Amino acid sequence: GKVAVLYGGDSAEREISIMSGTGVLEALKSEGVDAHAFDPAQRDLGDLKREGFQRCFIAMHGRHGEDGSLQGALELLGIPYTGSGVMASAIAMDKVMTKRVWIAEGLPTPRHVWLSPDDQSRERVIQVPDTIGLPLIVKPPREGSSIGITKVAGYSQMQDAVKLATQYDPDVLCEEFIEGEEVTCPVLGEGENARALPVIRIVAPEGSYDYQNKYFTDVVQYLVPSGLPEAEEREIQRIVVQAYKTLGCRGWARADLMIRKTDRKPYLLEINTSPGMTSHSLVPKSAAAAGMSYPQLCVTLLSQARL
Ligand code: DAL
Ligand code: MG
Repeated sequence: GKVAVLYGGDSAEREISIMSGTGVLEALKSEGVDAHAFDPAQRDLGDLKREGFQRCFIAMHGRHGEDGSLQGALELLGIPYTGSGVMASAIAMDKVMTKRVWIAEGLPTPRHVWLSPDDQSRERVIQVPDTIGLPLIVKPPREGSSIGITKVAGYSQMQDAVKLATQYDPDVLCEEFIEGEEVTCPVLGEGENARALPVIRIVAPEGSYDYQNKYFTDVVQYLVPSGLPEAEEREIQRIVVQAYKTLGCRGWARADLMIRKTDRKPYLLEINTSPGMTSHSLVPKSAAAAGMSYPQLCVTLLSQARL
């Protein structure tokens, strides 16, 4: 039957979603799937039903695509879709909610301070480093692709960092900076069948792993196999599968972590329930290392689409 590849949307990551969706659409077509582009920001979602689409591949990032709202609409329309359902999508979109769940489950994640709009007075903002130390990271909790993020080195930068983050989200997440190595690890499947793919180690010049360099340059190196000791790789995969299952993710996701330099302890930063599928993206690289081509990955995810 007809498959809609949903991409575009109205989030700050629209540009990235278009790159992901274009790749997925091409790949599905190359595998003989009757796939068509569909941009929820430009079309009425009801058209999916009227035009007889039987399944959706979600290649959307950010709000109104990755956050459970689109998933809820597809539930109401009765059209099966790839990836996580409403609840896991909604929690994972919000880095603060995600951390609360992980902390409750004893999973390792950096210390944080959440600043709601009521907590953003100068006095309150300037106190944050007293709680979680310096440097620290200030982020909009419901964004992706490093949008609106600042690494704060001193008290004087706090106010500007919070102001930048609030351009994207009224709430602000301040997080302890974990000095060490950045890694990412995809998970495929659901429940007892959830499996981690190979870990990727991200090697970037200090402070350069940002929006521009994530997608539009080649200054960042992605190492897979990761080169980490076998036991560390296994431990990261174990934590990531637990982090995924605990949120009730299904289909696929990619968790991002830091490994602390001092004691090699892994810390979960976030999990992306609709990971990038661009030419620079990481799930395709990890899948390739596991022997799964980009088109095979797309077909596998589509085969697991459901309500
Ligand atoms: N938010 C981007 C698309 C990612 O995590 O891959
Ligand atoms: Mg993200």
